[in-house]
Amino acid sequence: MSPATVDALVAQARRTLTTAGIASPDADAVELAAFVLGLDPGEVRLRMVLRAPVVERDATRLRDLVADRATRVPLQHLTGRAYFRRLTLAVGPGVFVPRPETEVTAGLAVEAAWAAGPAPVLVDLCTGSGAIALALADEVPGSTVYAVELSPAAHAWAVANRDRLGLDVDVRLGDATTAFDDLVGVVDVVVSNPPYIPDGAVPLDPEVRDHDPEVALYGRSADGLAVPLAVAARAARLLRPGGVLVMEHADAQGETLPAALRATGEWGVVLDHLDLAGRPRTTVARRALVGHPAAEPVSRPTLGP
Ligand SMILES: C[S@@+](CC[C@H](N)C(=O)[O-])C[C@H]1O[C@@H](n2cnc3c(N)ncnc32)[C@H](O)[C@@H]1O
Repeated sequence: MSPATVDALVAQARRTLTTAGIASPDADAVELAAFVLGLDPGEVRLRMVLRAPVVERDATRLRDLVADRATRVPLQHLTGRAYFRRLTLAVGPGVFVPRPETEVTAGLAVEAAWAAGPAPVLVDLCTGSGAIALALADEVPGSTVYAVELSPAAHAWAVANRDRLGLDVDVRLGDATTAFDDLVGVVDVVVSNPPYIPDGAVPLDPEVRDHDPEVALYGRSADGLAVPLAVAARAARLLRPGGVLVMEHADAQGETLPAALRATGEWGVVLDHLDLAGRPRTTVARRALVGHPAAEPVSRPTLGP
């Protein structure tokens, strides 16, 4: 029997994944082949053109992974890796898989950090795999980056990613709504992709519904904004006057989140931004100068005679 070839295996994988309802069957088939063969996707496509042979052991491994993917196990759980801006992160059960739209949120935080001047202090609240915090440490030279995560399992992934990538981030285990007492009023940029799905709005995709941790998904109120607003309130405490909050949200929250932030009186300019698909995705808010704890006088003048 002649050996399997890359093109035939990928074509079969594509058919299987299409039948299973996978949204990106071609990209997933090529990524799984790349993972099994130890190549990058471009090299896989070149070998498809050349109809390069594949040894039986690799062909069997690829068919098994495609079968798992067809049961809607996330692609990134099968390969153990997720691409995020310039980084490749390790991911798996117990941690939220970073999404492409969050790369836009991270990019807005990077721009805010660059604009903050030399040696900015940056905080990622709800860090998950560490994706945003590690991207900040990678892309903002001279910055000091902190991150916090509530779930011990996710925290362990973030620490492992930090150590493997060799990036300098202080990754803490804790609650973002009370974290960093040591950083009150001194942070230049707070970024967060908090859980924001409205309670009861169970995601349709099995990859999300059955594999992302619940604590990573639901915003703990009917509108999904309870956790995001509690996180934003903490951000307001941590930021220096004029500091910037960058917060991701659901596309349906593009007006409600900015409106809720404006209503607190803690924020000056509040603007919303679109993701690459043109959907409302990220709110950027500048901490007001008036009413900021750091703007209060340290001691009040004595009144009276
Ligand atoms: C949507 S995921 C985002 C993870 C990561 N920032 C990303 O963009 O890939 C939200 C994360 O927030 C964490 N989380 C939920 N509530 C939290 C809280 N009160 N304090 C800290 N982390 C929290 C979840 O465990 C999860 O890792």
